[in-house]
Amino acid sequence: MLNFNYCNPTRILFGRDEHKNVGAQIKAGGFERVLIVYGGGSVIKTGTLAAVQASLEAEGIEYFTIGGVRPNPTLDFANRVKAICQSSSIDLLLAVGGGSVIDTCKVAAAGACYEGDAWDFFTKGVKIERALPVATVLTIPAAGSEQSIRMVINHNGLKLGTASEHIRPVFSVVNPELFFTLPKEQIAAGVIDMMSHIFERYFTNTTNVDFTSAQAEAAIRVALANGPKLIENPSDYDAWCQIGMVGSWAHNGYFGLGHVEDWACHAMEHELSAFDPAITHGAGLAILTPAWMRYVQNVNPERMMQFAKNIMGKDSIEEGIAALEAFYAVMGMPARLREFGLDEAALEVCATSACARTKTIGNFRKLESAHVLKIYQSAF
Ligand code: NZQ
Ligand code: ZN
Repeated sequence: MLNFNYCNPTRILFGRDEHKNVGAQIKAGGFERVLIVYGGGSVIKTGTLAAVQASLEAEGIEYFTIGGVRPNPTLDFANRVKAICQSSSIDLLLAVGGGSVIDTCKVAAAGACYEGDAWDFFTKGVKIERALPVATVLTIPAAGSEQSIRMVINHNGLKLGTASEHIRPVFSVVNPELFFTLPKEQIAAGVIDMMSHIFERYFTNTTNVDFTSAQAEAAIRVALANGPKLIENPSDYDAWCQIGMVGSWAHNGYFGLGHVEDWACHAMEHELSAFDPAITHGAGLAILTPAWMRYVQNVNPERMMQFAKNIMGKDSIEEGIAALEAFYAVMGMPARLREFGLDEAALEVCATSACARTKTIGNFRKLESAHVLKIYQSAF
């Protein structure tokens, strides 16, 4: 195991009606001028936005509101949010939505404390030294951004991520009742994304990481058991509690403590959703993950076998991968990249772009663009 230095200060308000306590939590934090940010309007339809606003009003907190973040969010929109933060002296950004809304807030929060262009954080390696505080009311458990140090944004045909402790939310509301209105494709994509956040850490060549491995295996088994219940019944509160916890903890860094992490599947997927923003992150991961597993399995067959046995309950690596594919199918996910309507020529563009900045991606097996292309092709 490697050394680590870990602190996760995000307070979690978990359970029924907790979004109605957001005003009190903001007041307790001493914040006075809040910018509420939301997406394409689901929070208006569901009444979540109105409930959050009422909670702030009840505490006498001044707030501004901006909606319109789209999935696969853009730097341009984040810059609009940043401008409001600066012109209105905002002291807390409150994201009411999913990963796209939260990441928009994170980019704006860091951008508001930086003289240059926020794109520098993603392309020039500029370190985030400060950010306005961000809090969240989560409406879809998936990206894990409600506890993560990461943010991902699209600009100029690229989808890039970066990390900083300064953008980890100060608090997040995780009320499973807010997830009942999710369409089935988003439920499935969310469950698969959170599983991937654990896989990216679980598939490591670092040895003596039994504590985190055992917990990662348990967390993925919980996702495997509860995901299909939600496809069957999207109002299953108890199943959402399990999935809500897996999703929030999957990406807060815990499962990777003391590991070298991988992240090749995420890097490959981000290229696809940059190429075509209509591709949902979790759906891309559902197709790429089994293809990646087959491609890299010989690097560390013991670890792959541990996955097959302890997570999927199978006696061979191939049976384990096939069982994972069967689970993705039960969740209603596509199995082949061609189902996105992609042209095969796009694969080469994405493979080149995936390795353009770092030469290789992933750590379980370091992949050059020729390897990435093979994985894309096998998934096509
Ligand atoms: O925009 P609205 O109208 O709200 O609709 C959204 C959106 O269309 C809808 N939705 C959300 N909550 C709902 C709901 N519909 C009905 N009822 C509800 N309760 O769901 C759609 C997807 O929302 P989005 O925020 O895009 O989903 P998600 O949370 O999966 O976020 C995906 C983004 O996060 C990034 C992804 O790459 C992608 O850009 N990620 C961010 C990470 C991070 N910051 O740590 C890590 C992840 O690996 C990921 O890369
Ligand atoms: Zn993800």
